[in-house]
Amino acid sequence: MADASQGSDFVVVANRLPVDLEKLPDGSTRWKRSPGGLVTALEPILRANNGAWVGWPGVPDVDVEPFFEDGLELCPVGLSEQEVADYYEGFSNATLWPLYHDVIVKPVYDRSWWNAYVEVNRRFAEITSKAAAQGATVWIQDYQLQLVPKMLRMLRPDLTIGFFLHIPFPPVELFMQMPWRTEIVEGLLGADLIGFHLPGGAQNFLYLARRLAGQVTSRGTVGVRSKLGSVQVGFRTVRVGAFPISIDSGDLDEKSRSKAVRDRAKQIRKELGNPKRIMLGVDRLDYTKGIDVRLNAFRELLEEERVDPVDNIIVQLATPSRERVESYKAMRGEIEQQVGRINGEYGQVGHPVVHYLHRPIPRDDLIAYFVAADVMLVTPLRDGMNLVAKEYIASRSDLGGALVLSEFTGAAAELRQAYLCNPHDLDSVKDAIAAALEQAPEDGRRHMRAMRRQVLAHDVDRWARSFLNALSDEAASPHVSANV
Ligand code: ADP
Ligand code: F6P
Repeated sequence: MADASQGSDFVVVANRLPVDLEKLPDGSTRWKRSPGGLVTALEPILRANNGAWVGWPGVPDVDVEPFFEDGLELCPVGLSEQEVADYYEGFSNATLWPLYHDVIVKPVYDRSWWNAYVEVNRRFAEITSKAAAQGATVWIQDYQLQLVPKMLRMLRPDLTIGFFLHIPFPPVELFMQMPWRTEIVEGLLGADLIGFHLPGGAQNFLYLARRLAGQVTSRGTVGVRSKLGSVQVGFRTVRVGAFPISIDSGDLDEKSRSKAVRDRAKQIRKELGNPKRIMLGVDRLDYTKGIDVRLNAFRELLEEERVDPVDNIIVQLATPSRERVESYKAMRGEIEQQVGRINGEYGQVGHPVVHYLHRPIPRDDLIAYFVAADVMLVTPLRDGMNLVAKEYIASRSDLGGALVLSEFTGAAAELRQAYLCNPHDLDSVKDAIAAALEQAPEDGRRHMRAMRRQVLAHDVDRWARSFLNALSDEAASPHVSANV
C-alpha cells in the first residue's frame, strides 16, 4: 500500500515511468504511454498492487515531484540532457543493447558513458531508498539499471530486492568484451533474486558469477520457473532463475472479441483494398527486430513470382525509438528505402504492396490490426521475448491467422507451432512466409489452438506471481499479490 510519508511496500524501478512527459509546441505538457514491452507487462501488476514506480519521465531537464495516478505512486528520476546522451543513448543503448543482442551492431565502449551510467544508477538507488517502506519488496527492471541492486542494498539492507532482465543475457564470450564486466556482475549480485527470460541466460550468468566475481555457485541445470540456481555472496544466497515474461492475454482475448474491434478489423481490410492476404509487422523501429529481413524476404518472393503483389500486402507499423542513436538513424533510412523500392517495383497507383506507418498506434486499433492480419511477421535477429508474437496469438480467438516467428526470440521456446525461421537465412524466412500464406485452414486452426492454450495459461499475472513468489520464498518477505 502506498503511503507518501512512510514509503511503499512494493516498488518497481525501471528506466522509464509507465508514462512519458510530452512537451507540446505551445509550451504545455501532457503524459502519454511509454513505448515498449516492459510497460505493457508491468503496468497492470503495479496498478493492482497500489505500489510505487520509480523511473525517468522520458524528457531531459524536467523537475517533476512524485505524484499519484490511479492509486499508483509515480516517483520521477530527473536526467540532464548530457545524462540522457551518455547514460541512456550512450551506455544503455549503444553499448549494452548491441552487446546483449549478439553484437548485431558494434557496441561502443566509452569511459565517460560508463561514468554517467554509474552516476545515474546511484541516483535511481537513492530515490528508491526514499520511496520504499521498511522491509519493502523492490523489483528492479532491465539492463539500464544493473548496478542498482548492489547500490540499493548498501543504502537499505532491510529491503528484499529482485532484478529482472527484459532483454537476452549474452553468451559468455560476448559479455567478456565489456570493460566493466565485473562491476556489472557484482551490481546484479546485490539482488536476492535475478530473473532472466530463458534458462540459457541464467546459466551464462552463473558461469560469470564464478569466473568474474569469484563466487561459489550451483552447477545444476536451471529450469523454467523451477530449479533456481544459486550464488553464495558472503552470508547471502542469491537465487538465479528463468521466468519467461508474458502479456495480459485475457484482456487482449476479450477485447479482440468485441464488436468494435471486429468492425474495425473489417474496415482495415476494406481500407487496404480487401487483399487476399494481409501480412503484418508491429515493432519498435529497432535493428534487432529484423524488419529489413522480412522486407527482403517479401521482395524476393515477389521477384520469384512465388507471391502475387495484387493479392498479398504487408502492413508494417513501426513505432519511433531511440531516434538520436546513430545506428537507429541509419536503420530508419535503410528501411524506408526498402519500402520505397518494393512499392516502386511492385505497387500500383493507389495500391502499394507495403503500407508503412512510423508512429505508435492506439492500443484498440492495434488489436484490430492483429485480428485483420492473416500472417504476423515476427523476425528479430535476437529478442529477449517479443511480446508482439504473444499479443497476436491472444487476439486470435477466431483461431484464424498464422505466425511467422524467428527462432532467435524468447517466444520461440513457447510457441513451437509457429512457422519458425532463422532470420540469418533468407531462404528460411521466405519458406516460412510462403508456408504461412498457403496454410490449410484446418492446420492453421490446430496450430493457433495450441499456441493460444500456451499464451492464455501463461499470462503476465503468472509471470509476476512466479517471480515474486520465488523472491518472497527466498527472503521470507511480506507477500505481494500479483493478481491483476
Ligand atoms: P520491445 O520491448 O523490444 O519493444 P516487445 O515486442 O516485447 O518489444 O514489446 C513491444 C510492445 O510495444 C508491445 O506491447 C507492442 O504491442 C507495442 N508496440 C510495438 N510497436 C507498436 C506500434 N507501432 N504501435 C503501438 N504499439 C506498439
Ligand atoms: O525491454 C526492452 C526495453 O528496452 C525496455 O527496457 C524499454 O522500456 C523498452 O524496450 C522501450 O525502449 P526505450 O525505453 O529505450 O524507448
